[in-house]
Amino acid sequence: GQANIGVIGLAVMGSNLARNLASREGNTVAVYNRTYARTQELMDEHGDMGFIASEDIDGFVASLSKPRTAIIMVQAGKGTDAVIGQLAERFEEGDIIVDGGNANFHDTIRREHDLRDKGLNFVGTGISGGEEGALKGPSIMPGGSDEAWETLGPILRSIAAVAEGEPCVTHVGTDGAGHFVKMVHNGIEYADMQLIAESYDLLRRVGGHSTDDLVKVFEQWNEGDLESYLIEITGEVLKQQDPESGKALVDVIRDEAGSKGTGVWTVQNAVGLGVPVSGIGEAVFARAVSSKPAQRAAVRQAFPDRPDVVDVPDGFEDDVRAALYASKVVAYAQGFDLIIAGAKEYDWDISLGDMAKIWRGGCIIRAQFLNRIVEAYDKNPELESLLVDPYFADAVKEGEAAWRRIVGIAAASGVPAPGFSSALAYFDSLASDRLPASLIQGLRDFFGAHTYQRVDKDGTFHTLWSEDDRREVEQEPST
Ligand code: 6PG
Repeated sequence: GQANIGVIGLAVMGSNLARNLASREGNTVAVYNRTYARTQELMDEHGDMGFIASEDIDGFVASLSKPRTAIIMVQAGKGTDAVIGQLAERFEEGDIIVDGGNANFHDTIRREHDLRDKGLNFVGTGISGGEEGALKGPSIMPGGSDEAWETLGPILRSIAAVAEGEPCVTHVGTDGAGHFVKMVHNGIEYADMQLIAESYDLLRRVGGHSTDDLVKVFEQWNEGDLESYLIEITGEVLKQQDPESGKALVDVIRDEAGSKGTGVWTVQNAVGLGVPVSGIGEAVFARAVSSKPAQRAAVRQAFPDRPDVVDVPDGFEDDVRAALYASKVVAYAQGFDLIIAGAKEYDWDISLGDMAKIWRGGCIIRAQFLNRIVEAYDKNPELESLLVDPYFADAVKEGEAAWRRIVGIAAASGVPAPGFSSALAYFDSLASDRLPASLIQGLRDFFGAHTYQRVDKDGTFHTLWSEDDRREVEQEPST
């Protein structure tokens, strides 16, 4: 075979990735799709890029040089397993199967272990940046073995986005580490979008801004410390007119948010690992609430008298921006906490600084902000929370009063701001001297003898609540 890399699955993401690969010096790209018409389409339009196209899987495998390396770009789930099976039957020891879809990292761990038993390398890799990223340079988050990375590293480096002179790809960790980190990326993406949406809603409903005004606000924000792809495209989306109705497109789009599931995975796994990713959770729940039109209509009818929006103070716009920034710091702090917990649970050696680095370009959450996170972990890789990094701590302190004003205004005006308010509650929980968890422990001990610890001495205690003369007993340490 003569191709150093192959792509299976030539829908938009797959064919764009294949074109990206083929455009880089040193790559010859084999392509294959289950239905040949798709392959034919790619060849018709871009046949001059030196692709080696095969009509069947045997031809595809034969066209690859050793170690054979193939990137699967098909729908995550059953389709992926089928293609892996076909390749595994034909590949030989040392060959590399790459899954570039949004796979569940638990599946990736399972597949990697199964294939390793057969002497094959399996690399689950996150690829972010949508269709354009795949074509022009995505952010790439590969897991898998060191051996696979040796072959794959240079190839992925050749196609990744470049930020601050560095390619947005690194070997994240073994087996499912890459897909885990891509999952967290998507969770953060959900939180980012929710916070932007809340800002838009407050500026519109409370601030009284027109959609045209808002385009300018977001363009302005994109020049400051919020500069990011998502803020930029918010301006683009708000700008879009709908020719049919003559209105802004955003005003004719149904307010029911969809999702493909990666945000839900993030929250499910975080709950299992005991990591409070409340920002991501609120974002997932907000989409779920929006997608219940019947329930929304019923509650709307039962509560027709909504509060009047409050008069906004001077500088409202800046307050919203500050609330957005502080809440964003919280969302990222929580996301990075989840990466730490995942790495510990699944035995991955993940550099948080490197994750921030490879998210600076190519991916959906790319932002200036990530440079600050890179610096934070450079200074202290063991940060207890992103919130305590001096730069972010100062930023939060600076925005704190505005953040509180906005949450108050939102509540008083009846405008939902679950992202802003839960982020503030999380911050206040961490920053509080004492939490009411002591009462919860008391209640648990009362009804279930679940025991508690004391602030003034070591040991585990239980109060004999049901005795007339209640007293506390120390529990023997359990073995
Ligand atoms: C990316 C995106 C991409 C995607 C997801 C999320 O990094 O390029 O995250 O993976 O758009 O499918 O989509 P949902 O909002 O549908 O869950």
